[in-house]
Amino acid sequence: MHACMEASLRIIWALLIFMLQGVHGEDVNVQEIKKNQKRGCDVFQGRWVYDSSYPLYNSFNCPFLEQAFDCQKNGRPDLSYLKYRWQPSSCNLPRFGGRNFLKKLRGKRIMFVGDSLSLNQWQSLTCMLHAYVPEAKYAFSRTADLSTFTFPAFNVSIILHRSAFLVDVVKKTYGRILELNSISSGSLWKGMDVLVFNTWHWWTHRGSQQVWDFVQDGKGTYKDMNRFVAFEKGLTTWAKWVGSNIDPKTTSVFFQGVSPTHTDSREWGDLRGKDCRAQTRPLLQSSYPGGANPAEAIVEKVLSGMSKPVQLLNITTLSALRKDGHVGGFGYGGPKATDCSHWCLPGVPDTWNLLLYAFLVQN
Ligand SMILES: *[C@@H]1O[C@H](CO)[C@@H](O)[C@H](O)[C@H]1NC(C)=O
Ligand SMILES: *[C@@H]1O[C@H](CO)[C@@H](O)[C@H](O)[C@H]1NC(C)=O
Repeated sequence: MHACMEASLRIIWALLIFMLQGVHGEDVNVQEIKKNQKRGCDVFQGRWVYDSSYPLYNSFNCPFLEQAFDCQKNGRPDLSYLKYRWQPSSCNLPRFGGRNFLKKLRGKRIMFVGDSLSLNQWQSLTCMLHAYVPEAKYAFSRTADLSTFTFPAFNVSIILHRSAFLVDVVKKTYGRILELNSISSGSLWKGMDVLVFNTWHWWTHRGSQQVWDFVQDGKGTYKDMNRFVAFEKGLTTWAKWVGSNIDPKTTSVFFQGVSPTHTDSREWGDLRGKDCRAQTRPLLQSSYPGGANPAEAIVEKVLSGMSKPVQLLNITTLSALRKDGHVGGFGYGGPKATDCSHWCLPGVPDTWNLLLYAFLVQN
């Protein structure tokens, strides 16, 4: 059993290395990668198991943790949501090594690009690294859309670029335009060693949460558009940007899959129609009874048509099983503002980073 597991792990890592290095250069597409993963181990297929050694860190080990994610500090009374580890069905994830991470990425820059779910993951990673290597000095700087966290002794930067749509939103005299074919902030993304992109949630926003007045697609300007269609067009623009600006030999590109929300308990078989508040236990099965998010299929379609290798961090199902992991009523706004989108830290995004770590560090 043990030898067999080791052998299969070796195969998996060989595949991961193959994927990250893009041995076949531009011909390696997502379909092939998926096939390889199936033959080896799909780290995204598995279940949550109770692990008394969890969480990986405590919020008091992370002095820079934003209050919005610090559920314990905000009074969340239950603790068991902290105690679950993601267990892939046919292999184990490597144990997180903060020092190992910093050593392997010495002199490198990692950038998360996306909405506040990227912020969630970026905060998780910086907390994990600081908690594991507390003596390493860190520095933090922030400009309008860019937050940079560095470990000077390792010359490692972990950067967050807030960009809710990846494509541009431009202010004109007649209103704010969501430009589906344009990415001007791509200049900030060039030269990174690792890029982790994400976008979805903002595409659905309406009313006061909608931050644009018109959508522009090619020569047409529209008052609105089917949001899935718009999402696919925007994501395709991003895919083209990656195609013409990324050298897979020097930059590893990841796409953080759709992060699920939990606003209706009927999805997981509780007919009372409750939201994520008062959820204290994950679903312990391996598939989500609420089915797939339609945005996932779009992500899959766009990624599979790309000319450059992009690794999907397929976090959707594993996160969907964590109805207990959201901020709920214990975010910045307190009990008045329910947040069933973002995740408590420590918590689910730590696992997203364990998966990222698995892909990066074994390279
Ligand atoms: C993501 O993972 C889930 C669970 O393993 C799986 O059902 C789904 O097909 C995966 N999606 C992709 C695009 O690989
Ligand atoms: C730190 O890393 C950057 C790239 O991220 C590199 O340009 C620079 O030379 C490195 N500095 C030192 C002191 O190694």
